[in-house]
Amino acid sequence: MPANPPLRIVVKNSLAELAGAAAAHVRAAAAEAIRARGRFRVALAGGSTPRALYPLLVTGVDWTRTDVFFGDERAVGPTDPQSNYRMARETLLVPAQVPEANVVRWRAEDPNLDTAARDYEQALTAGATPPWLDLALQGLGPDGHTASLFPGTSALAEEGVLAVAVDVPQMGQRRLTLTYPALCGAREVCFLVVGRDKASALAAVVDGNRLPAARIVHRAGPVTIFCDREAASGLQPHDKNQEVP
Ligand code: 6PG
Repeated sequence: MPANPPLRIVVKNSLAELAGAAAAHVRAAAAEAIRARGRFRVALAGGSTPRALYPLLVTGVDWTRTDVFFGDERAVGPTDPQSNYRMARETLLVPAQVPEANVVRWRAEDPNLDTAARDYEQALTAGATPPWLDLALQGLGPDGHTASLFPGTSALAEEGVLAVAVDVPQMGQRRLTLTYPALCGAREVCFLVVGRDKASALAAVVDGNRLPAARIVHRAGPVTIFCDREAASGLQPHDKNQEVP
């Protein structure tokens, strides 16, 4: 593998095509991880875009040999409509009958979120060796955030831990998130980016701007961005490694 494999940008005409391409990529990553190491360790993305992807992963992945983590969580309980866990449970974990023992949920309802973050880091690393994740699935916000690594927040400076609690004033929320060491250290990272409102942030991130997601996009390791034409509309022609239909 080249020292720093090129960033792959896969542009699709529709969300359905995008989700199909991303699902095939995740299935292949799962099969390879299980073949090579007996387990597939994946961190799921939150937000709404993954709702198009997760139902496509109900089949084609050996969930009995998969450990499911979450890139971040809102400081809410598991049944709260804002919960990333709840979204994944509805769209994937229950339909795919993922064994509960294989799902590592942030205890985001804990009154002490620092304790919850420490516990999550322990769960992420227990019985494992780095890289802690085979695949990190990420979204992108219009402000260039990913997971809960938001501009101007303390989580961006965390280098010695894999999981933190963080105040996100621009969202009026507390959050829990994996940090750069955890996400940049994954064997592979895939972004799912859809919609014109993401075009400016995606272009800035691909060009190496200092937005939070840029550090992950330009990490020393394979990164694939699955996006639709609207989200890709701000990319410069020199981003020639775009794979368009
Ligand atoms: C979250 C996510 C966050 C999300 C982006 C994109 O908890 O909200 O971790 O990073 O991926 O905000 O969200 P959409 O997919 O809803 O646009």
